[in-house]
Amino acid sequence: MSMLDTRYSLLVQLPLLALAAAPVAAQSPSCESTVVAAPEIPVAHGVLAARRSALLETIGSGVAVVPATSPPRRPGGYPVASSDFEYLTGLEQSDAWLVLDGSAAGEHAAVLYLTGNAAPAGQMVEAGAITGIADVRCFGDAPEELAALLRTDGASTPGTILFLSMGMRGAPDADVLAAVDTAGLETRNLRPALARLRVVKDEEELSRLRRAAEVSALGAAQGMRSAGPGLGEADVQAVIEAQFHAGGALRTSFPSIVASGSNALELHYNDNVSTLTDGELLLTDVGAEYAGYAGDVTRTYPISGTFTDRQRDLYELVLSTQEAAIDSVRPGVTIEDLNRIAREHMAEHSGDLCGDETCDVFFIHGLSHHLGLDVHDPGLPNLPLAPGMVLTVEPGIYIPDEGIGIRIEDDVLVTPGGHEVLSTAAPKSVSAVEAEMANGR
Ligand code: GLY
Ligand code: MN
Repeated sequence: MSMLDTRYSLLVQLPLLALAAAPVAAQSPSCESTVVAAPEIPVAHGVLAARRSALLETIGSGVAVVPATSPPRRPGGYPVASSDFEYLTGLEQSDAWLVLDGSAAGEHAAVLYLTGNAAPAGQMVEAGAITGIADVRCFGDAPEELAALLRTDGASTPGTILFLSMGMRGAPDADVLAAVDTAGLETRNLRPALARLRVVKDEEELSRLRRAAEVSALGAAQGMRSAGPGLGEADVQAVIEAQFHAGGALRTSFPSIVASGSNALELHYNDNVSTLTDGELLLTDVGAEYAGYAGDVTRTYPISGTFTDRQRDLYELVLSTQEAAIDSVRPGVTIEDLNRIAREHMAEHSGDLCGDETCDVFFIHGLSHHLGLDVHDPGLPNLPLAPGMVLTVEPGIYIPDEGIGIRIEDDVLVTPGGHEVLSTAAPKSVSAVEAEMANGR
């Protein structure tokens, strides 16, 4: 995985989008260099310009700063790539800022600050040529130029509003604030505006997401064909990830979860060190990252190749719950609505499968998250679904006393008339799963 490929966040969390730049570099002779590592598949200038224009519309005559990386989440960890920066520039980059000036006209509204210190990684290209941003400047000059733009240099003129991404805990981007004196300046959160833009995918994003979902599903199916007693979880992981590569995905969109038996009770188990045991279930929750975009597909199946009665009954309940939720995906519905629909379905159809309880008691995580550049892409609470949104639908049942964890997850595009499932290449019905496993033997 690349240094910047650390975007994964927990199922039960929102993605961490706190943005902060790396410390401001001293101006160096290489500062004049404006080459950057070429993206896997460049985004057309017109598409990038449209994204920046849409954001500019939301900031009025204010100034927005989008740093390329945030500091490591753990001491000694890697810096985290900002998918906001990538969305607006097409670059996965460290030590850079994008500054958008709402008071400047046309192409002067966007300035890209680069250190020029990037270590060569594959093919290097001119930043301007790849981003369509004509104004590429030296990172070392950014604080001074930004201060001038914001008029925080002691002048009596009122300051311009500064838009920064506020982090998980509401803290604004610390490193931008450290670099620029913002005393007396009004700062606002850029995240809701960015989330509102990013949550509806443009055509370029949709074509990448379609492929990411398809390749993820093909990998999951390949895992299904290969699994059997005596193999290691890591063997299945290797087969799945090899299929991702064959499908054109250079990376996983998060660390693969290949969890047999009771390992599936741990939602983000990814040690993948156990041996597959006859009679147990195997849960694979895996995602290919295709041209920057994340797939995320979960399948659960019997290691023997045939479900036991008990496994089948629980599996069918998870599956019908997922189908009820997917059937309800259409414009205007919220993820909260889908959660409620899924839980009600599961409760109503539990019978005596979960003893005195209804099985929704054992559905211990959220149903859905948005997909995009991040596997947990930004969304807004209670935002009604709209055409062009892509989300997961992933109910589960986890029964610790029996060492059973079952989850089924697909990637779903919201269309004007309802929805389209993008990850159909992975078998899902009991008969299709058993047939796929038999095929592989
Ligand atoms: N597929 C892992 C997650 O959604 O967190
Ligand atoms: Mn997921």
